[in-house]
Order: sequence, then C-alpha cells, then structure tokens
Amino acid sequence: MKKLAVFASGNGSNFQAIFDSIKLGEIQAEISVVICDKTNAGVIERAKSVNIPVVCFVPKEYTTKADFEKEVLTVLQNHKIDYVILAGYMRLIGETLLGAYENRIVNIHPSLLPAFPGKDAVGQAFQAGVKVTGVTVHFVDAGMDTGPIIAQKAIEIEAGDTIEAIADKIHKVEHMLYPKVIKKLVSK
Ligand code: GAR
Repeated sequence: MKKLAVFASGNGSNFQAIFDSIKLGEIQAEISVVICDKTNAGVIERAKSVNIPVVCFVPKEYTTKADFEKEVLTVLQNHKIDYVILAGYMRLIGETLLGAYENRIVNIHPSLLPAFPGKDAVGQAFQAGVKVTGVTVHFVDAGMDTGPIIAQKAIEIEAGDTIEAIADKIHKVEHMLYPKVIKKLVSK
C-alpha cells in the first residue's frame, strides 16, 4: 500500500475527494499525514475528523526554506511517504523536498496550464474573459506551476458565470480528476 502525504493550505475539498476515493477502494493507497502551513486552514478539521494526523508548520518561523523543508522531510521520512500530493498548497516547493521526492510530487492547479499560473488562477481567467479554462495535474519542479503535465480537463465559461460559479465548476472537475490521476500514479 503506497503512502501519501497531502499538503494543503486551505479548505481541503481536494483532500476530502482523495480521502473519499481511497475509502471507496478506488485508490490503492493511504493518506498517512496532512502537512499544513496555515494554522486556521479548513483541511485541519477535515483530516482530524477522519483520524488522519495533521502536522502544521509556520514557515516564517524558519530562517530559510531549506530549514523549513528539512523538518517537513523528517515528517515524511518518519511516515515512509511514497508520494507528495499538493492539494491547494500555496507555496513553492524547494530543493530539499524536490531532491528527496524527484518525480514523486504532484500538484493540481485550477487552470489549463501554462495559462494562468500562480495565485488566483480562476480570477485571472475571469478577468481575461476566456471562454474555456480548466484544471491541470502536473509533476512539480522548481518553477511556479511549470512541471510536466500529467492530465488536463477543460470547463466552459458561460455568459453570466460569476467567479464563484467558475470556481464551483473547477472544483467539481478537480474532485473527479485528481483521484483518477493519483489512482494511476500509485499503481505504477
Ligand atoms: C484548488 O482549486 C486548487 O486547484 C488550488 O487551490 C484550490 C484548493 O481548494 N491550487 C492552486 O491554486 C495552486 N496553485 P481546496 O483547499 O478546497 O482543495
């Protein structure tokens, strides 16, 4: 059974979708730990309520990213983690974790990369007036949302769609696509 660490900074709906898919027996893996960088993130309650340990870090308490990531890495090694799953984790991954988990860190991003990388991808797509946006799952490299693409799925932006409506469509697609990709990833 492969062991996953889910990294999240926010609400954790993607964590939930992955957890639910595992519970249904669709993914041959377990989430061993959630790594969180925001002490008030919704994902913390979600993980605790299903008895998954959460380790919260406050990155600004560390002098360098390497110092921070060394501690994160110790947690991952203690749990014998095979794959790192970024699910709304709003922080760039540095050399320490990239080196230890080469080709074993994946991210989900709410746009059709390489369009709209970085923060507020849904707002960026809305502002740009595009008629099609979507979701990308990719391997993580040192860049901002730049690693090799694993899967993408488009959604249409219809006349009158608010940012909230677009975000809603994006989330629905994410909750289907991410478990599907992880299922394949861990079966290799
Ligand atoms: C998701 O839409 C995810 O694609 C996005 O954050 C949201 C987290 O939602 N990630 C990024 O923007 C990464 N650049 P969640 O906390 O409900 O899973």
